Amino acid sequence: MKLDILLGLQWGDEGKGKIVDVLTPHYDVIARFQGGPNAGHTLEFNGIKHVLHTIPSGIFHSDKINIIGNGVVIDPVVFQKEIASLEKLGINPVENLFISKKAHLILPTHKWIDAMLEEQKGEQKIGSTLKGIGPTYTDKVARNGLRICDIIASDFLERFTAIYKKHTDLLIKNAFKPNEDLEIVFKTWFDSLQTVLRFKLIDSEYEVNRYLREEKKVLAEGAQGTLLDIDFGSYPFVTSSNTVAAGACTGLGVAPSQTGRVIGIVKAYCTRVGNGPFPTELFDETGEQLRKQGHEFGATTGRPRRCGWLDLVALKYSIMINGATEMVLTKADVMDNFDTIKICTAYQIDDKTTDRFPTEINDEVIPVFKEFKGWKQNLSEIKEYEKLPDAFKEYITFIEQETGIPISIVSTGSDRSETIIRA
Ligand code: GDP
Ligand code: IMO
Ligand code: MG
Repeated sequence: MKLDILLGLQWGDEGKGKIVDVLTPHYDVIARFQGGPNAGHTLEFNGIKHVLHTIPSGIFHSDKINIIGNGVVIDPVVFQKEIASLEKLGINPVENLFISKKAHLILPTHKWIDAMLEEQKGEQKIGSTLKGIGPTYTDKVARNGLRICDIIASDFLERFTAIYKKHTDLLIKNAFKPNEDLEIVFKTWFDSLQTVLRFKLIDSEYEVNRYLREEKKVLAEGAQGTLLDIDFGSYPFVTSSNTVAAGACTGLGVAPSQTGRVIGIVKAYCTRVGNGPFPTELFDETGEQLRKQGHEFGATTGRPRRCGWLDLVALKYSIMINGATEMVLTKADVMDNFDTIKICTAYQIDDKTTDRFPTEINDEVIPVFKEFKGWKQNLSEIKEYEKLPDAFKEYITFIEQETGIPISIVSTGSDRSETIIRA
């Protein structure tokens, strides 16, 4: 079998968690390939809402294997909390959750460096989730990092101490004082490593490739979104990993020739948490309505998400970078009572119109909109594609024609059951 990849085509929070959960029954293995606890993936079923940060969104299906891949960075304290909340629900993830030995560890000092660097940036700050993501990936690339396999190495303490010293030297030099009790922080961190060690630590690249060889179906779960990618997002207002389909190859050790469907998740409007350019952002009543009706507050930090209209220029760019084969449209139901709905079809830059997402993208970009009539109907009550209102189907057809790829699933609410899979 080929590896299928599911990822966000915008700035994150497109509804990846919900859709992975919906698709899990069709797969044998779900594997996260990048990011870390900056992610917040929400799942809802049987009246329970659950937010996952590090653990793949297939975990609620006890007969499916879940893998945290080598491309992920793990904060053991966050991981321990996630495990505890699953266990509280009666779920025992020890049997079906495996961790790559090559995944990197987030240290408490990584979080402090994150905060220090953001503070230094002042007005130019990225708006990081401050989970230590950037500094952990920096150490990985600089070949200073600690990996999951290091926890059981005989010289772990020495290596930890060496990196800890490097970090504290930097923090002291910059006069950064963490506002936490160091003794408690480090005791908690070391204790949490024991939770990690309850799980099977694996060479996930061997296992994933074996599953594929054995004709098992594997779904790679992305975090963040294409426009937050370290190479292709609106740099420097991005995260520190490759969130795009290529990231699934490096983050799991699967060759490009072994990849199959690339399922791109698209929210029917756009949101962005943190700073950086956002051409279709709305600062008016409509933006407020999207935030309120869409409950657009961060699943990880609780910050209000910036909201705006769907941006086809950015979407087409994302589809190209990922080679997306299909889309899943989420949250159109949030606009059920809108009279009109807009889609950005081009950008105007210096009096010229373009359909390209510029490298130098900034706040000067003026979006060109096409207006659609609202469908004024409750989508979440509809269970068959054919029964969806014509105005909504026209909106879908327009997106498909413009992007050249189909919308294979329409999500009409946050619950697992509020999903229309097109035949
Ligand atoms: P992720 O990071 O991509 O997994 O997305 P988040 O979980 O951060 O944010 C998506 C939010 O929208 C969550 O609160 C979901 O429960 C919710 N959601 C997902 N799909 C839909 C949908 O189709 N309609 C509505 N109303 N909510 C949705
Ligand atoms: P999921 O997987 C939305 C944003 C942050 C910030 C930038 C860098 O839930 O879609 P970082 O913590 O990586 O240093 O932050 O990226 N960001 C996200 N925005 N959803 C996410 O994940 C995000 N993860 C990071 O807000 O702007
Ligand atoms: Mg999220």
